[in-house]
Amino acid sequence: MVAFSILAGGYDVFIATYLFNTATSSLSLVAKHPSGPNPSWISLHPTNRSVLYATNEISSGGLQSFNIDAEGVVSSAVQTISSGGDSPAFASALSTGEVAVFNYGSGNGRIVRTTSPTTFDDSAPLITFPVQSSTSVSHPHMALEYNGEVFVPDLGGDTIWRLGRTSYTGGWKIQGSFPQPKGSGPRHIRVSNNRLFALHELSSTLTVQSIPPAPNGTSTIFQSVSIVPPDQPQGAIFAAGEIQIPTPTKRFPVPYIYVSNRNVGVQDPRGDSIAIFEHVNQGTRSEGLKLVNQVFTGIDQIRGMEFGPADRGAEEFLVAAGVAGTAGTLVFKRTDGGRNLELVAKNLDIATRTSFVWV
Ligand SMILES: *[C@@H]1O[C@H](CO)[C@@H](O)[C@H](O)[C@H]1NC(C)=O
Ligand SMILES: *[C@@H]1O[C@H](CO)[C@@H](O)[C@H](O)[C@H]1NC(C)=O
Repeated sequence: MVAFSILAGGYDVFIATYLFNTATSSLSLVAKHPSGPNPSWISLHPTNRSVLYATNEISSGGLQSFNIDAEGVVSSAVQTISSGGDSPAFASALSTGEVAVFNYGSGNGRIVRTTSPTTFDDSAPLITFPVQSSTSVSHPHMALEYNGEVFVPDLGGDTIWRLGRTSYTGGWKIQGSFPQPKGSGPRHIRVSNNRLFALHELSSTLTVQSIPPAPNGTSTIFQSVSIVPPDQPQGAIFAAGEIQIPTPTKRFPVPYIYVSNRNVGVQDPRGDSIAIFEHVNQGTRSEGLKLVNQVFTGIDQIRGMEFGPADRGAEEFLVAAGVAGTAGTLVFKRTDGGRNLELVAKNLDIATRTSFVWV
């Protein structure tokens, strides 16, 4: 038997622990560990798997640290600090041990140093993103560390901000930005194949571009494609959710791109889909994105989705859930080299979840 603990955050006051048994394809709820309010985004320390961070996505937002053990038992919060603003929807530790937290509602955030993996140095200043015009609002949605910089997609500003060090050991400052299509609402980004892939919430599009040179270069978008599945019911409204590009492995050599279609309007009876794309013709004039598949999940407003750890042979599995409805938490298996997904396990004990971590 191989079993994995999966932690799940959501809009509630606990972090759930599930046990996924790969031999029996069963997913069971083990415990609900009390947390602060709305731990909508959870993430592991990059090198210390016994440390977890969570946001408190409320108007006076918070950032929390927890100890976890190999069985997925989550301690009570070791420390809780202010995120510096309204509704942090994302927090993630950098390779430096600092933890980035960004406030969707107030257009700002912090990159917080730690004095141990679970203890924050609360002196980090607030980084506030300029608004692009009198009608726009900044909505930073995530932080991606890349090559000594931190990229922050701003859904309200249709921009990706670049943060760089103020000095070698210093804090962080906005050192540049590169524009995204007007009205697209960039939500989450990934870097793979030396390219930047952006998932846009408002236009439900996926784009690919080369990584603009630091500190403040630009690059053109090679292609922008719709991720929305065909034949949707009248009244369907799409708001793209998550993008994952698992690192290639022997079993899954092609880095397919998995994006979730979050339908916030009239539901398709098949539920929301995960669209699978392939990055094609890199380095040629026809570089772009090719739709491989639309896999319907039965999930309502699919949001969080996370692949299992490749270093422990679990990269074939994807856990996912929605933020509405009652579909619960589902585990899929990649088939056909990653070109398809097949449901292998389901747990209905908690109706909605928004973010996952494989322990
Ligand atoms: C991981 O972090 C915890 C909590 O700070 C600490 O007790 C533990 O020693 C760390 N483990 C490693 C391998 O650094
Ligand atoms: C980046 O370049 C743009 C375009 O030249 C400029 O408007 C902007 O102020 C620059 N940003 C920073 C932080 O220097």
